[in-house]
Amino acid sequence: MLEKIQETAAFIKARMHTRPETAIILGTGLGSLVNEITDAYEINYSEIPNFPVSTVEGHKGRLIFGKLGNKDIMAMQGRFHFYEGYSMKEVTFPVRVMRELGIKTLFVSNAAGGMNPEFEIGDLMIITDHVNFFPEHPLRGKNIDYGPRFPDMSEAYSKELVAHALEIAGEKGIKVRQGVYVGTQGPTFETPAEYKMYRILGGDAVGMSTVPEVIVANHCGIRVFGISVITDLGVEGKIVEVSHEEVQKAADEAQPRMTTIMRELINRA
Ligand code: HPA
Repeated sequence: MLEKIQETAAFIKARMHTRPETAIILGTGLGSLVNEITDAYEINYSEIPNFPVSTVEGHKGRLIFGKLGNKDIMAMQGRFHFYEGYSMKEVTFPVRVMRELGIKTLFVSNAAGGMNPEFEIGDLMIITDHVNFFPEHPLRGKNIDYGPRFPDMSEAYSKELVAHALEIAGEKGIKVRQGVYVGTQGPTFETPAEYKMYRILGGDAVGMSTVPEVIVANHCGIRVFGISVITDLGVEGKIVEVSHEEVQKAADEAQPRMTTIMRELINRA
């Protein structure tokens, strides 16, 4: 495992002429941030040894390096989901590679179903914590020396970055929510009873990504900021049929707001 990570990192390093300490996983709602990267150079996932290949519609598979404002960054366009059939090790492989490349801070986004009754479709939710509902743990197996066998998760999402993001949202007049993200395997959206259960268990929003990458980032000592766009509601009395298209539509509408917060935050972080 470690040899594979190092082989992949060596391949990427040989093609890098910047040294970013900031990485972004361009999940739902952040796709257009790509257009703001200057001095960009790219590596397709298909060229990278040991890298899984993205299969989901609307997710392109490449690493993009360049500048966002004055900051050197590395962006993953296309992430790997457990529901696609990848193992948790594969889903989180790029984060371990990031650690080898010298990444110190990771920014992630996703689409999620809102379970907090105050939430509305199109809201942005700054993730303050998560509940891991994936059926396999990404750190299961021999511990890699990036971190301890039993990693602390008391501040999985950097409180400092949450505070900065709230400041930025205030300055820009963008309404944001805060809450707990429940990570599930998908690919089904939840039944009404499941939304209710995740709400009772402490969740404000539920989605099918992010948690694996965030766990591994924490193990590697990479600090994390995450944000969800609420694309549908899992609130009793407000539950209607959901489709991937509607999720995309709500996410596209929220994209400019999410992009503004991320751009500013990354520049100040
Ligand atoms: N549940 C799970 N994942 C999701 C949802 C949802 O309601 N909306 C967007 N991704």
